[in-house]
Amino acid sequence: MSRETEEVLALAVRLARAAGAIQKERYETRLEIGTKSATVDLVTEVDKACEALLVGELARLRPRDAVLAEEGGGDDRAGATWRWIIDPLDGTTNYAHGYPRFCVSIGVEREGEAEVGAVYDPLLDELYHAVRGGGAFRNGRPIRVSEEDQLGRGLFATGFAYDVHSNADDNLAAWAAFVKRARAVRRDGSAALDLCYVASGRFDGYWEPKLKPWDVTAGALVVAEAGGRCTDLAGGPVPRDGSQIVASNGRVHGAMLALLSEAGAR
Ligand code: IPD
Ligand code: CA
Ligand code: CA
Repeated sequence: MSRETEEVLALAVRLARAAGAIQKERYETRLEIGTKSATVDLVTEVDKACEALLVGELARLRPRDAVLAEEGGGDDRAGATWRWIIDPLDGTTNYAHGYPRFCVSIGVEREGEAEVGAVYDPLLDELYHAVRGGGAFRNGRPIRVSEEDQLGRGLFATGFAYDVHSNADDNLAAWAAFVKRARAVRRDGSAALDLCYVASGRFDGYWEPKLKPWDVTAGALVVAEAGGRCTDLAGGPVPRDGSQIVASNGRVHGAMLALLSEAGAR
């Protein structure tokens, strides 16, 4: 690992823990909650506080890097070697309801390729990290995807976009297909943690259409470095904007793609 990658990793981990500490401290307190693209698309004061901390520290410590952050506070400048892709609070709906599953997700690209990922769940105190070519870890211990090769014995996860009330392209046919064929399916509300759970073998696979780069950049690297496979819904490369993903242990990937195709997922 280059010296600079080591520094970027150390900073990503430190920042993920710092934002996680804000989430933990304000968890289950009275929050100011607003909406964004739809009445079900929430943003809390904690999303904003975490982003302000992350973006502020990056501007101070890495002023030449590009920063793409979900709430719009970053400077995604063109031409930078390093680009930080940040979800300051992944799982906002859960957070707003006091449901204990959310995290900070920080992915860092070097010349357009994911190089470092850090995802932190502050309530469980679980820190996932990965470096390209360097493996994947939870709290410093190597993690690995599951070995399950039967869809019918697998535990899967997915999610639904915030336009689910108004758009017929809603992932429900795929959801129904997995409910009927898999051992069980979860909709647990944090894409980044869903990916890290695939990486650590808790889930055998996860798919979701209509995601954003900050949902997947860190988690997809963690999956790949844990020996898993990530594609788009049709089996091609994950789009550069991270807008859809199928992530698995590799062994159930073909069966997942076949079922998604049967269900008409695109
Ligand atoms: C959402 C969560 C959710 C997924 C949505 C995402 P947010 O992110 O990751 O699990 O289903 O598609 O938008 O809004 O909580 O950061
Ligand atoms: Ca998110
Ligand atoms: Ca978010």
